[in-house]
Amino acid sequence: MASKKQIQVLLQRAYDVQKIAHAKYSGFKVGAALEADDGEIYSGCNVESSSLGLTICAERVALTKALSEGKTKFTAISIVGPVDDYCPPCGACRQLLYDYAPDIDIIMTDGKKIKSVPLSELLPFAFEETKLRIK
Ligand code: THU
Repeated sequence: MASKKQIQVLLQRAYDVQKIAHAKYSGFKVGAALEADDGEIYSGCNVESSSLGLTICAERVALTKALSEGKTKFTAISIVGPVDDYCPPCGACRQLLYDYAPDIDIIMTDGKKIKSVPLSELLPFAFEETKLRIK
């Protein structure tokens, strides 16, 4: 469970990176900040493509940045969107986060209140590597 201070820092990092989001097709700028177990924070913004389906969400940018820097254990990720509402991770991001950080907390804000929800609550009965065994 992240401390109040950690939550504030993670939300601030998400707001910082949200400013440089590449969201010219939707206008929906998202920022995320992922904390590794050594305290290092990896931020990510959404990166949209003119071929819309190639768009990458902020959460997956943050996660792939951290993984490609050799980090393998994570504690929490904050996510902020452009409106005064919570910005929960999309289904694809829930799956990829679950594959690499099933015990992570997802921190969201509506601008006033803050929610910290375990990923396992957002993706119950998840598909994961133990299900991959084939006969
Ligand atoms: N988006 C994210 O970055 N994260 C989410 O969890 C939800 C959606 C982005 C993708 C797209 O660039 C824009 O928000 C609108 O869907």
